[in-house]
Amino acid sequence: MMEAAILDAVNGGKLGQLAGLSARYADPAFSVAHGGHVRTIAAGHYTVAGLSKHVRLGEFVAHRSATGIHLGEVVRVEPDIIYVCPIEPGEPIGIGDTVIRKGAFRVAPDESWCGRTINSLGEPIDGKGPIARGLHPRSIANTAPPSMTRSRVEKGFRTGVRAIDIFSPLCLGQRLGIFAGSGVGKSTLLSMLARADAFDKVVIALVGERGREVREFIEDTLGEHMSKSIAIVATSDESPMLRKMAPLVAITVAEHFRDQGDNVLFIADSVTRFAHAIREVAVAAGEPPIARGYPASVFTELPRLLERAGPGVEGTGTITAIISILVDGDNHNDPIADSTRGILDGHIVLDRSLAEEGRYPPINPLASISRLARKAWTEDQEKLVSRLKSLVHRYEETRDLRLIGGYRAGSDPDLDMAIKQVPVIYEVLKQTPGEKPTLDAYADLANALRAAAGQGNPQSAIARR
Ligand SMILES: Nc1ncnc2c1ncn2[C@@H]1O[C@H](COP(=O)(O)OP(=O)(O)O)[C@@H](O)[C@H]1O
Ligand SMILES: [Mg+2]
Repeated sequence: MMEAAILDAVNGGKLGQLAGLSARYADPAFSVAHGGHVRTIAAGHYTVAGLSKHVRLGEFVAHRSATGIHLGEVVRVEPDIIYVCPIEPGEPIGIGDTVIRKGAFRVAPDESWCGRTINSLGEPIDGKGPIARGLHPRSIANTAPPSMTRSRVEKGFRTGVRAIDIFSPLCLGQRLGIFAGSGVGKSTLLSMLARADAFDKVVIALVGERGREVREFIEDTLGEHMSKSIAIVATSDESPMLRKMAPLVAITVAEHFRDQGDNVLFIADSVTRFAHAIREVAVAAGEPPIARGYPASVFTELPRLLERAGPGVEGTGTITAIISILVDGDNHNDPIADSTRGILDGHIVLDRSLAEEGRYPPINPLASISRLARKAWTEDQEKLVSRLKSLVHRYEETRDLRLIGGYRAGSDPDLDMAIKQVPVIYEVLKQTPGEKPTLDAYADLANALRAAAGQGNPQSAIARR
């Protein structure tokens, strides 16, 4: 108030300018920054003296060199020095260079970001010109809203992918993982899910993919949904810092739209590559590995990222998270798969053997679960799915026996029904990315079973539905 009054009184004069400057520097964003200087340099990190008391873990610092200003993240703080991981590898660093504190890394999402592809620094990389900064910058290291203030997850939605809508239906605000080895069909399934109609915005983090795959994903699969989608990309040739930041930037963008009331779909492909990036950064900072080469920070960062998805506080929108997890050598017990499974509200398991049979999407309906399926199913549907699962289970467990001719039709009515109906069910579950999303997967299934059973077959309980 005082400053404003002075400003009015001496409008335009020297005193006025001084008051303006004083008001400006009272804002923490413009306050004088703390600085230090580079002490040692190693591959992957450098250390800085003079900042230990002024920075926090995870904050950013700016290093000034002959080629400009380069950002780095504080990955370790000791009494005399801090360890910094530079964002861009190969920047020229010299002993004694000046390093200043920047604080948290912030992005300022805006409605105009829809349809755009950006990198982890929030810069456009799609050649469509500059992007506008939103009015509300947000730290990418944000934390999740307190759990008791969040609204509940209970509204089902249709994904348009039959195998999921029937066996493991999802709810808005759910966190789902897709687990599979490489080349089994994770990215393709994610791209099919990205087209679900239930969402106002789709925010996609592509981490550690090859550049070619990224273009394919964005151009081919999003297609008509591009206008409500934002992609944040860090390809495999980028620094571990940039790969680590991509999902954090993406979830921050998703939070921005959720707080505006949107139902947002957050997709991360793949979370394993995100974990690898965290591992690379941590190892460079000297953090000891605890599980299969992964340092402890991996297992704290993963829940922190996923916890930020979910419903917002009452009155805002939701973030539904669908993430892919690469299981090394199809070993579903690797530490990343293990630790993420516990944080998620469901997992879809893709089997290489189904892919080899050409049964795409290769979803194993018996191994996949949605912990919120009950909220999405009607009572009838729940009963039906339980019946379908037991048929599929019966069919699969007798597969070898039947192959060697060890089963004679007619001796087990349940198995006879499974033999008749399961191949029809499998056929209904097949779906290519080019196909239109299904509106009612149950109706498709019922129609197919009815057609296969022939009209009025009294044996088939399901076909009569
Ligand atoms: N629904 C599908 N329909 C037809 N082919 C598919 C389908 N899903 C995956 N594929 C085939 O599998 C290949 C690998 O899929 P991709 O999604 O890239 O695997 P991942 O992301 O697990 O490495 C694709 O190039 C495609 O040929
Ligand atoms: Mg992939």
